[in-house]
Amino acid sequence: MKNFKRTLITSALPYANGPVHIGHLSGVYVPADIYARYLRLKGEEVAFIGGSDEHGVPITLKAKKEGITPQDVVDKYHCIIKDSFEKFGISFDIYSRTSAKIHHDTASEIFKTLYDKGAFIEQTSEQFYDEEANQFLADRYITGTCPKCHYEKAYGDQCESCGSTLNATDLIDPKSVLSGNKPVMKATKHWFLPLDQYEPWLREWILEGHKEWKPNVYGQCKSWIDGGLNPRAVTRDLDWGVPVPIEGAEGKVLYVWFDAPIGYISATKEWTPEWEKWWKDPETKLIHFIGKDNIVFHCIIFPTILKAEGSYILPENVPANEFLNLEGDKISTSRNWAVWLHEYLLEFPGRQDVLRYTLCSNAPETKDNDFTWKDFQTRNNSELVAIFGNFINRTLVLTNNYFKGIVPEIKN
Ligand code: 2FM
Ligand code: ZN
Repeated sequence: MKNFKRTLITSALPYANGPVHIGHLSGVYVPADIYARYLRLKGEEVAFIGGSDEHGVPITLKAKKEGITPQDVVDKYHCIIKDSFEKFGISFDIYSRTSAKIHHDTASEIFKTLYDKGAFIEQTSEQFYDEEANQFLADRYITGTCPKCHYEKAYGDQCESCGSTLNATDLIDPKSVLSGNKPVMKATKHWFLPLDQYEPWLREWILEGHKEWKPNVYGQCKSWIDGGLNPRAVTRDLDWGVPVPIEGAEGKVLYVWFDAPIGYISATKEWTPEWEKWWKDPETKLIHFIGKDNIVFHCIIFPTILKAEGSYILPENVPANEFLNLEGDKISTSRNWAVWLHEYLLEFPGRQDVLRYTLCSNAPETKDNDFTWKDFQTRNNSELVAIFGNFINRTLVLTNNYFKGIVPEIKN
C-alpha cells in the first residue's frame, strides 16, 4: 500500500439555490468531518475543503422567478449554508464559493490549458432558441408534453411525473419558460471533452487500479465505462457562470460541472499559497466525499479533466454514500420535504450533536436509509440519555466514591 504524507479531503460543494438539509449532512459532511477530525487527532497533515457551488441553470431560474439577480440568490444561500455548517461543527479549513474571482480565474486557466493542448472537440449543433428573449435555452428553460406519459409540464431534460430522462427535442409542443413562445432551432458552437478517448485509461485506472472502491461507486463507474463513453459538452449558452475564455465564445459559460470541482482547487489556493503541494505532489492523498448522484462527475469527468491537464494528482478514493429519506419519502428541495439545518438550529438550539449522532448511527453507507422523528427521539432518550448518560454518571460516581474525584493513573 502506498504511503502518503498528507490527506486532502474535499466534500461536494452544495448548490447555493437553497439551504442544506439532513440528507447533505448525513451523506457527505458528517462523514467527511469525522474523517478530517480523526486524521488530525492522529497528528496527520490534513486539509478539509468545502464551498458553495454557485453556478448552473437552477440558480438563474430561481433568480428570474424572484425578480432578483443570480448573485443575490447565491449571496443569500451561501451565507445560510456556511452558517449551518459552522454551527454543526463541520471543521472545514476553508469554506469558499465559486462566484469568487479566484475561482473564475482558476477555472478559466484550466479550460485554457486544455484548449491550448487541443484536448477539446469543437462542434456546432442546432439548439432551441427563444427569439423574443434573444437567447439559447438550456434544458430547464424548456417545458412541454412528455412523450412517454403525456404530462404537460415536463422539462427539457426530465419528466418529473414519470421520471424519464429526456432530450429537449423529444418534448411534444415545446415552450420557452422565458416567453411562453415556441422556440426555434438555431446553430451554436460548443466545446466537448472527448471522454471516449480516455476510456482505455479510465478502465485501467478505475476498474483495474481501484477495485477497493466502495461497491456502489465501483459498480456505477463500471456501468458507465461498459456502456460506452461519449464526448461531453463543457460549455453552455448562458449568461451566468465562468465566461468561456476564448475568442468567439461570447455569451457562453463553462458548464457548471466543469467549473464546480475545480472549486476544490481554487478554495485550496485561497486557503494557502502552498496549494500546489496539496494538488500536485503525488504524496498527497486526495479523497472526495460525495453523494451517489455525483459519482460520474468525481470518478470519470473531473479525473479526465485533471488527467488531460497533466499536472494534478487524481483521487485515491471517492467514498460516495447513498441517500437519506425522510419519513419514508425522498427528500426534495422543490417539494419542501426536508429537515432544513437552519430550521433545526432554531427548533433545537444547542442540540447539534444529537442530530450528528442520529445521522451517524443511521448513515446511508450501503443503501438508502430513512430518518424518522420517532427514531431521533428513541436515539436521544434511550441511547444518549439512558445508556451514554448512565455510563458517564456511573463513572463520575465511582470516581468520586473510590478515587476522591481524581482519575487514577493507568498502571501497567
Ligand atoms: O450535487 C450537487 O449539489 C453539486 N452542487 C455538487 C458539486 S460537487 C463539486 F463538484 F463541486
Ligand atoms: Zn413523463
